[in-house]
Amino acid sequence: MAERITAPAFAAKKAKGERIVMITAYDATFAEIADEAGFDSILVGDSLGNVVLGYPSTIPVTLGDMVHHLRAVRAGVRRSLLIADLPFGSYQSGVTTAVESAVTLMKAGADAVKLEGNYFDEIAAINKAGIPVMGHFGFTPQSVHQFGGHKVQGRGSQADLILSATKQAEDAGIFGLVLELIPAELAKKITTELQVPTIGIGAGVHCDGQVQVITDVLGLGPINYKHAGKFMDGRALVTNALTAYRESVLAAEFPAESNSF
Ligand code: KIV
Repeated sequence: MAERITAPAFAAKKAKGERIVMITAYDATFAEIADEAGFDSILVGDSLGNVVLGYPSTIPVTLGDMVHHLRAVRAGVRRSLLIADLPFGSYQSGVTTAVESAVTLMKAGADAVKLEGNYFDEIAAINKAGIPVMGHFGFTPQSVHQFGGHKVQGRGSQADLILSATKQAEDAGIFGLVLELIPAELAKKITTELQVPTIGIGAGVHCDGQVQVITDVLGLGPINYKHAGKFMDGRALVTNALTAYRESVLAAEFPAESNSF
């Protein structure tokens, strides 16, 4: 079996100029496929709320939801670094809650956790507990109401605030960070000035790596986002397959002899 990817391997990859590729997964089947396809990391993102649970945002996602799906993903992952999102409300109220929530995710099978925003004390405390922490800056979906919608962040004077926050997070001990929906030039500056790798989503080509939501990559969702890479028209393929199955049952063609006992 190929060697397992660890959190320290992320910095080593950056040092060697090797790109890092991440994807989300929420169940064992897709986790196994992504693991076998060679992704460096699989993220049980709290995008679970939008793409699997049908919520309008990530805000309703609970620690219990994350644990449930993380256990399933763990069953499919052998080699990739398995990162789990700390959901909204599981770290914002202080270091004790943050460490307890991170410990819960580690016990459910995570190799590392990710949290959004300027929670430097919480990052340091989780790190002190021996848990690798990834940061997440720019558009942070758990703050969607504060941003007033899904909007690009870090334009104009905001750029320096984001750069400075990423440096503080690095000092607090993150092993990498997601940069979401920020101008490519700002992502390039952050990538140059930080030692830890940057993983972009809607942050241009200069990041050390990229992360995408699996349903966007497979074209399963109803919306085509500008930042998303759609590598297959999964919605059309799945619709065609389901229609073919339904029609073959109606025509008494399925099950065939070969499916019968
Ligand atoms: O939850 C998620 O899918 C994420 C990605 C957008 C990076 O955090």
